[in-house]
Amino acid sequence: MTTLPMPRMRPVGERSLPDQFGRVARDLRVSVTDRCNLRCTYCMPAEGLPWMAKDEMLSDGEMLRVIGVFVGLGVSQVRLTGGEPLLRRSLVDLVTGIAALEPRPQIAMTTNGVGLERLAGQLADAGLDRVNISLDTVDSETFTQLTRRDRLADVEKGLVAAAEAGLTPVKVNAVAMRGINDDSVADVLSWCLDRGYELRFIEQMPLDAQHAWDRAEMISADEIRERLSERFTLSPLPDRERGSAPAERFLVDGGPQTVGIIASVSEPFCGACDRTRLTADGQVRNCLFSNRETDLRGPLRGGATDDEIAGLIQGEMWRKAKGHGIGDPGFHQPDRPMSSIGG
Ligand code: 5AD
Ligand code: SF4
Repeated sequence: MTTLPMPRMRPVGERSLPDQFGRVARDLRVSVTDRCNLRCTYCMPAEGLPWMAKDEMLSDGEMLRVIGVFVGLGVSQVRLTGGEPLLRRSLVDLVTGIAALEPRPQIAMTTNGVGLERLAGQLADAGLDRVNISLDTVDSETFTQLTRRDRLADVEKGLVAAAEAGLTPVKVNAVAMRGINDDSVADVLSWCLDRGYELRFIEQMPLDAQHAWDRAEMISADEIRERLSERFTLSPLPDRERGSAPAERFLVDGGPQTVGIIASVSEPFCGACDRTRLTADGQVRNCLFSNRETDLRGPLRGGATDDEIAGLIQGEMWRKAKGHGIGDPGFHQPDRPMSSIGG
């Protein structure tokens, strides 16, 4: 018979977000809407998804209150995600509200870039610090095939506007898909190097609404590295520059520019994860792949105090699993798709 280690007790009264494995969450990802104006094939079906109703979503006041509680628990970076965060009409006001919190967290956003041209300046003025823009291909036809929308030109304008507004370093996130854009990863890198954007490739994860992900079809980090090496010389940056950042970074052709590769599936970085998540309908998630959530919306609307909300958040984070377990026999893809969890 094996004896299980005694679970450590959750520290009560502390203003931080530890879990049972010694990790502490400091990076909050807030999905501000589940809607999107693109239909990336690895994310959602052509017809979209049944979107959340307005009254199911946290209002700005509710969202700011919860983010404030997270900041009181030691969160020092807030990343706004979606769906597509720019589709939340009050986004600029939300950023203003987050920037007014004490101590002020760093504020970042992950966006597909459509519509950013119009909003980049206002968002920067409101306090947004940085953006990551998702762009999987720089070929217009492939973009239209992959996102089912002919919007590459809008994304390009969004990138230019982000750099002009000082939302720097402008980072680009790309997902490589077999038979679609995997033969042109070096073109995306060359395009980003020319424009001064920092590119990172992300392995495709089992988070699509259609549940069609297939490990055998996934383009692995190794494969991306090999394909980039056909055109560029990549030299790894030392791991100590990595911290809790999931990307393994390489100097390109001797530097100073770099490319990152995020091997979420083939080399998981769960041991260094410092993330926590809030969905647009007010659920705390301790992991992208979690099969459970803690509801904050009910308690918020039922008159809970900030301390009660803090206790609920700490309880959910304490339950965070050691790793995502993709590939384990018991792995079960979460019911909630990426588009309503946020990247
Ligand atoms: N695997 C990896 N990345 C994904 N994204 C969306 N779905 C997946 C997936 N299944 C990316 C988007 C965007 C960020 C929010 O996450 O391309 O860059
Ligand atoms: Fe929209 Fe992002 Fe999903 Fe593409 S991956 S459909 S941009 S939410």
